[in-house]
Amino acid sequence: MIPIPAILPVIANQPLLQKIFNTLIDSFIDNKVGIAENFLSELLSAHLKDNLNTLYTDKLLLYAGTGNDTLVVHNKSVRSDKIYWLDRSHNDPYENEFFDLMDDFVSYLNSTCYTGITGYEFHYALYEEGSFYKKHLDQFKNNESRKYSMITYLNSDWQQADGGELCIHQDGLAQHISPENGKSVFFKSSELEHEVLLTNKPRMSITGWFKVS
Ligand code: OGA
Ligand code: NI
Repeated sequence: MIPIPAILPVIANQPLLQKIFNTLIDSFIDNKVGIAENFLSELLSAHLKDNLNTLYTDKLLLYAGTGNDTLVVHNKSVRSDKIYWLDRSHNDPYENEFFDLMDDFVSYLNSTCYTGITGYEFHYALYEEGSFYKKHLDQFKNNESRKYSMITYLNSDWQQADGGELCIHQDGLAQHISPENGKSVFFKSSELEHEVLLTNKPRMSITGWFKVS
């Protein structure tokens, strides 16, 4: 008899969650870019967006660098978003709900796809009007621990004219993904070059990486 991975019972009684995870994983397997609409519930998305707006008002967001901890380059000609790292120690119920969801997703991914993920990191990101992130890969040259990128958007009523699309380059083609509320995108950090096109409106997300140490 094949043993059932320990995680499956945890979400086995949550068919909707399992369906959303499968949507993300299946599209990732088919196209190297996983996309799931409504990965976040409207309610959780609204609370996380409130958190991000408060951080912005309180001036706690910092310009993001483009290197890792030992080599942070604040180069606004490459990226002009502002970020704030999520942490369970903040004891924020919505951040923790987000982490719980990521824990479930990682367990599901590891048990169904043998990804061997051992950790993750996530930050809020705010692109003010006129901001962008030029074409890049998400893996650092001197640290390969980031294996998968996952971005979840917090923007209601996003219109095409608002810009700010995630543009993923693959096989000479560019795939444009609009940053719509609750949508998650998942891809391999070392493989796919991508960019964030100039946004005409404040653009909010939670961006992170699943790691193998
Ligand atoms: C990043 C990134 C994409 C997005 O932060 O590395 O590529 O759509 N973000 O926000
Ligand atoms: Ni990126």
